[in-house]
Amino acid sequence: MRGIENIPELSNPSVCMKDPQRVKDILQSMVKAGSNTLQVISDFDMTLTRFSHNGKRCPTCHNILDNSKVISEDCKQQLDHLLKTYYPIEIDSTRSVEEKLPLMVEWWTKAHDLLVEQKIQKNLLAEAVSESEVMLREGFQLFFDHLHEHSIPLLIFSAGIGDILEEVIRQAGVFHSNVNVFSNYMDFDESGVLRAFKGDLIHIYNKREGALLNTGHFQELRTRPNVLLMGDSLGDLSMADGVQDMENILKIGFLNDKVEERKQAYLDSYDIVLIKDETLEVPNAVLLHLT
Ligand code: C5P
Ligand code: MG
Repeated sequence: MRGIENIPELSNPSVCMKDPQRVKDILQSMVKAGSNTLQVISDFDMTLTRFSHNGKRCPTCHNILDNSKVISEDCKQQLDHLLKTYYPIEIDSTRSVEEKLPLMVEWWTKAHDLLVEQKIQKNLLAEAVSESEVMLREGFQLFFDHLHEHSIPLLIFSAGIGDILEEVIRQAGVFHSNVNVFSNYMDFDESGVLRAFKGDLIHIYNKREGALLNTGHFQELRTRPNVLLMGDSLGDLSMADGVQDMENILKIGFLNDKVEERKQAYLDSYDIVLIKDETLEVPNAVLLHLT
């Protein structure tokens, strides 16, 4: 049987594992079950997209809009102020989820209210994306194309903005038919002006609720009880909570920021932790091994 030793990328310097034997066992079970039992669930911002490039932070879905010309200068400053206030809370390892949760709801709610005030036009979103500095991680082409070729469903589960996220993967030419998205979608009026966000808000700490609301999706995928999960926040760990009769789950976590403070918590919850790794090299190697 092929084992962990057949994936040389798992020895990359960015890779940390608390229990390599466990990773080996999960991989063996998943290889045995076959790729027709596999589904992939991934976060978007800072998981499929890069965290930084040449020392500069890359934008999230929200930041793509925040920095674009569809937003007034005054509003830009307010959004930037929100980012500077709440992002440090998001990554603060000294605060509990219970403490952070209401503050995250506050961030998303205030930001969405500001975006709605800007009367953003739907037909300007594509340009905002193409002019932005967003970058999918190196190896994204192989990641998306390989999953598509092997008919493996990919769920992108994002607390970002669905319309922006879709545009990013569409412009990159990888919005294939096997991709489904759960995210915050914009609601436009009949003249194409943003008037609200649709449905219940998804923020980084309620992905479990979001997963449980989408039973139909997971019901369709019930013949795929093996999951590869990818995220960059501890909140992303609950993205697979809706999966029915789960057999195996392999969790890959990107640790991009506040590495020393958060390393132990990530090692305790993700099977494979990728430290300041801006590529999809390891997930791709795992996928090639599983297919
Ligand atoms: O796709 P993902 O679930 O990672 O999207 C959530 C990310 O969006 C968070 O990690 C947060 O830092 C970012 N965010 C932002 N601006 C907001 C709200 C969230 O950049 N107004
Ligand atoms: Mg993320």
